[in-house]
Amino acid sequence: MIDFTTPMGDQLHVRLRAAADAAPVIADDASGATVVLRHQDVEALAHDRRLAGVGLAVFDLMGITSGPLRGWYGGLMFTNDGPPHDRLRSLVSRAFTPRAVDELRADTAAMATELSRPVRADGGGDLVPAFARLAMRVMCRLLGVPDDDVDGFAAWADALSPVFGMMDDRQIAAATTAIDQMLAYVDDLASRRRRDPADDLITGLLAVEDGGERLTHEELVAMVANLLVGGHDTTTSQIGCSLLTMLRSPDEAARLVATPDLLTSATAETIRYEPSLPIVPRTTNDLVSIAGHDVPPGSLITLCTAAANREPSTWRDADRVDIARFTRPDTPRLLSFGAGPHYCLGAALARLTVDEVIRSVIIDSPAPMTLTEDPATIPWRMVLGRAPARLSVAA
Ligand code: HEM
Repeated sequence: MIDFTTPMGDQLHVRLRAAADAAPVIADDASGATVVLRHQDVEALAHDRRLAGVGLAVFDLMGITSGPLRGWYGGLMFTNDGPPHDRLRSLVSRAFTPRAVDELRADTAAMATELSRPVRADGGGDLVPAFARLAMRVMCRLLGVPDDDVDGFAAWADALSPVFGMMDDRQIAAATTAIDQMLAYVDDLASRRRRDPADDLITGLLAVEDGGERLTHEELVAMVANLLVGGHDTTTSQIGCSLLTMLRSPDEAARLVATPDLLTSATAETIRYEPSLPIVPRTTNDLVSIAGHDVPPGSLITLCTAAANREPSTWRDADRVDIARFTRPDTPRLLSFGAGPHYCLGAALARLTVDEVIRSVIIDSPAPMTLTEDPATIPWRMVLGRAPARLSVAA
């Protein structure tokens, strides 16, 4: 049994390999889900319209049948499929463009440099708290939220990150307060931008129109909160996973210093090797046959991207970190951001943020930073994404 509600550190990969060596799919007894392990099956099923997201099934299980949290969550891209999903996605994509993301690179690089500087000045420190706010700062810059309000947004996003799984009563109460406050703030900011446009994503979302369709004010407000919550813990956790991967691979870190053009590929490789999100959950609308196993309609499916990322028959030297891997044209597809209609809308932003963290810690370091503890003994944490709880380094 593999318990995906725990982070598992290196054990995640050990257990997944043992499972995948035995069978292409396994049963998760706790959730009743069929766990899909092979790259080709995960990729094909992510595109398969007979599968849908888990929608509000977890809310039903928790007994949250009405209220602001359910209202918000039920209107997101994650929880909708078919035409309602595609309409939202098409509208948001018109403003949240690769160009809008690219324009953030210089600011993100400056923020990452500023955050790593004290660690270097002190001769070392813990890189986890050092970069804890970076992802939120970058997203707030993109949206047009003033820097002074970043901490408040991070606190709301922290309280809201557990909504993607089972929550206890305390978490439900905290998430409900957070969504009320976050929506009220964004509602006010969007109204101000309507009167007084700025060069930011909220203004861009107000302006989008696609085939005569626009986002309603409520949809826009919910969508901004969707981007903030979807991108906060995932990216923050990936920063930790990616730094751990580079720091425990000193030869590859030295190769990156000598060849900084490999940065984009190095980032993808760290996300393949140590993903913050190991799975993507789905439900079936129809009978689906996976590697000879029939899965009836209404079943839970867990697409295990972490197993797919390291499948030995798909990847050359699957368990080796190779920062040039993603420069080769025959490289398989990285599945950590999903695939198909729900492919992560923030993937370019997440990659850019991780790029700039790796640049500040590895490439721009006058001398290599080194881990001061054995990676095998580092504790892990998990909210939405899994991540090392600390990364103590000497600098
Ligand atoms: C390393 C960081 C990240 C990872 C690993 C990640 C992963 C994912 C995955 C696996 C999905 C697909 C879910 C599914 O198929 O059900 C997804 C969807 C999504 N992500 Fe991300 N994500 C990251 C960062 C971000 C950021 C920074 C944002 C926003 C700024 C974002 C916004 C979204 C949204 C809105 C969706 C829903 C898309 C849809 O349903 O059409 N993500 N993400």
